[in-house]
Amino acid sequence: MKSDVCMKLLNLGCGSRYHASWTNIDFVSTCEAVVAHNLLQGIPMENECFDVVYHSHVLEHFTKIDGELFLQECYRVLKPNGIIRIAIPDLEQIAREYLKNLELALQGNEKAKHNYNWIMLEMYDQVVRSKSGGDMAAYIFQPTIPNEEYVFERIGEEGRNLRKFYLSSLDKINIENEENTDKRSLLRKFFSKIKQALKKIIYNDNKNLTYTNLGKFRLGGEIHQWMYDRFSLTQLLTKIGFKDVRVNTAFTSAIAEWNKFELESKDGVIFKPDSLFIEAHK
Ligand SMILES: C[S@@+](CC[C@H](N)C(=O)[O-])C[C@H]1O[C@@H](n2cnc3c(N)ncnc32)[C@H](O)[C@@H]1O
Repeated sequence: MKSDVCMKLLNLGCGSRYHASWTNIDFVSTCEAVVAHNLLQGIPMENECFDVVYHSHVLEHFTKIDGELFLQECYRVLKPNGIIRIAIPDLEQIAREYLKNLELALQGNEKAKHNYNWIMLEMYDQVVRSKSGGDMAAYIFQPTIPNEEYVFERIGEEGRNLRKFYLSSLDKINIENEENTDKRSLLRKFFSKIKQALKKIIYNDNKNLTYTNLGKFRLGGEIHQWMYDRFSLTQLLTKIGFKDVRVNTAFTSAIAEWNKFELESKDGVIFKPDSLFIEAHK
């Protein structure tokens, strides 16, 4: 494909992953490079004006029906033979991990028991949660993660960064508040505060949560409303009219100079290793 100098590139639901060579769209504009727009109202662009349409971890936040309408919009704004690239949590891999760890856990494998707990969060917490971060955040913000390696293997850099943030917050509390106090008692205090906060979230807040607040959160774009695998997404893309549907890796693409945009990886490190990366042509 031609070089990006003359290519028109569209990144939908970009979050913090955007590039100046692309038209980046999200709910809110966090900087000049990002256009604010609600994608449930369609894509605010002319027909057939982009060479590439890309979205990463966005489609699963729409209902099954809205997801199909959204992909139809992607098709509309793409030029003939243009490329759509989709990164999305891979339902197939989650299901395989679930079954593998379930079977090992039933045989008494301790490691698999922890991995089972984590994969259940990937599968369900992201769908049923009623608070930002849900039980996944609570898992990452516990004093010791029993299967840290597995968790980071699954959710990559983003999980590592959250963990770093948590650990540096612990350090900050230690330095700022009680410099002369024994570290253990400080940690105990901190963890008991977190425990209390979690209890409050789980018992009190949930009890008092109004339907309005719950609705606001559930419609706010964080939860997963549908999941896809290579079979269902290929079926859907084909139904819309896309052709040459192909599964890629984070590093492979028909998009010219894909890796230089650093939207999915940097220096060989994949941001979201739990993804299915799919491309197709109009
Ligand atoms: C899980 S984040 C993924 C962000 C980024 N693409 C990435 O891969 O890191 C999902 C993004 O989609 C955006 N989003 C969800 N629903 C949206 C909508 N209806 N309109 C615009 N943006 C939406 C969210 O604001 C959020 O930034």
